[in-house]
Amino acid sequence: MAEGQDHKLWGGRFAGGPAPALEAVNRSIGTDIRLWPFDIQLSKAWSAALGTAGVLTAADVAAIQAGLDRVAARIGAGEAPLASDEDVHTFVDRLLHQEAGEPAGRLHTGRSRNDQVATGTRLWTMDALARVDGLLLQLQQVLVEQAEAQVEAIMPAYTHLQRAQPVSVAHWLLAHFWALSRDRTRIAAARRSAAVLPLGSGAIAGSAFSVPRTQLQRDLGFDSVSPNSIDAVGDRDFIADTLYALTLVGTHLSRIAEDLILFGSSEFGFVRFGDAYSTGSSMMPQKRNPDALELARGSGARMLGDLTTLLVTLKGLPSGYNKDLQEDKRNLFDAVDGMTLLLPAVAGSVATLTFDRVRMRAAVNGAMMATDLADYLVRKRVTFRDAHGAVGRLVREAEEKGVDLAELPIASFRAAHSAFADDVLAELRPETSLSHREIEGGTGPQAVRTQLEAARALLR
Ligand code: ARG
Repeated sequence: MAEGQDHKLWGGRFAGGPAPALEAVNRSIGTDIRLWPFDIQLSKAWSAALGTAGVLTAADVAAIQAGLDRVAARIGAGEAPLASDEDVHTFVDRLLHQEAGEPAGRLHTGRSRNDQVATGTRLWTMDALARVDGLLLQLQQVLVEQAEAQVEAIMPAYTHLQRAQPVSVAHWLLAHFWALSRDRTRIAAARRSAAVLPLGSGAIAGSAFSVPRTQLQRDLGFDSVSPNSIDAVGDRDFIADTLYALTLVGTHLSRIAEDLILFGSSEFGFVRFGDAYSTGSSMMPQKRNPDALELARGSGARMLGDLTTLLVTLKGLPSGYNKDLQEDKRNLFDAVDGMTLLLPAVAGSVATLTFDRVRMRAAVNGAMMATDLADYLVRKRVTFRDAHGAVGRLVREAEEKGVDLAELPIASFRAAHSAFADDVLAELRPETSLSHREIEGGTGPQAVRTQLEAARALLR
């Protein structure tokens, strides 16, 4: 085989070469090139394991490992694959032949691209999940920092997007923190799912050389070795787990984004987007658009599409490796790439938000304390059912008169229920409403401080 010419890992049994149309559809180098550092890492470990098994001499192992280091240096310095390289494994193998000569031809002993690609993709995934986790952590940090400054600030909380009850602004911000905490738990679980070593499984039946798999596991940082070679080469559950975890991250980002987009509209005016995270309009000079947040809102769709494509690919596939699996990396890389761009943009958007505490507080109207009025009556031994009815009549009266609940004369309260006394006016203050909710997980100022402490502890 001449230098720079078509390098193939197979082909001896064919009289002629593959048709261009087959080569074009079969080639995955455009996608899997980014596995190269892991392909080299696992090949170095594999050569050492072949050495331990007595398949390679120490000189072969040394030549292969030094050769792989030079290959890594070349690719790291920008050496591009040839159009004829079928995939990343072929690319690395071609360069290794140039760098190491004859020993290079011994490296692929007892292994297949089937256990090789599964191993490389798992290594890539473990690395990617650690990166995504770090980005999630940064977003959580930003949410906690913003929340710390807003414990005393009060805003309406919404159910059905209708004003419901007053809450601490920090409480609302932290709601998003906890969703991201669950995401980090799922990311950790996806990492565990990826950390099972397939190498040593060969094409399907297991390597015929007694290669030490625990040595490979240790060298490559896996938690355990796969217990079944047929399963190992066809298992892409770890990608499904990763994509599911990322889909939920996308879903959570979309909900943070939607809250902020809504609250940043002129109609709400609760938050203002920082200049660095706002875009303008080519036509309307006044515009301040939250593009990053809108892209975050849309992103869940992309992750879900990746997850769906993978699951449909896996469903009904025969056991073992099938070429359909080559497409798994498109979905995996797309979802991780999307997240890698989005998370810092959302973190930046949140970090540069300013809060209009006056507008938030002003959006809390008397009717939002209706439940507190009913609770007030309950404390005076009225049944909740009767209390609900009495306060409902007050709400209707205020609505008919076109005034806030807090503006009704005390006589109206007395008429609605005899248990109402002068001290009811305090119940119409949102601060009082919050102070009643010191229950764990509630929006009482002390409960929110405790919550903040728990959040901070998770970040340490
Ligand atoms: N490029 C292939 C993939 O990503 C590598 C495995 C090829 N295996 C094979 N038997 N052709 O799945």
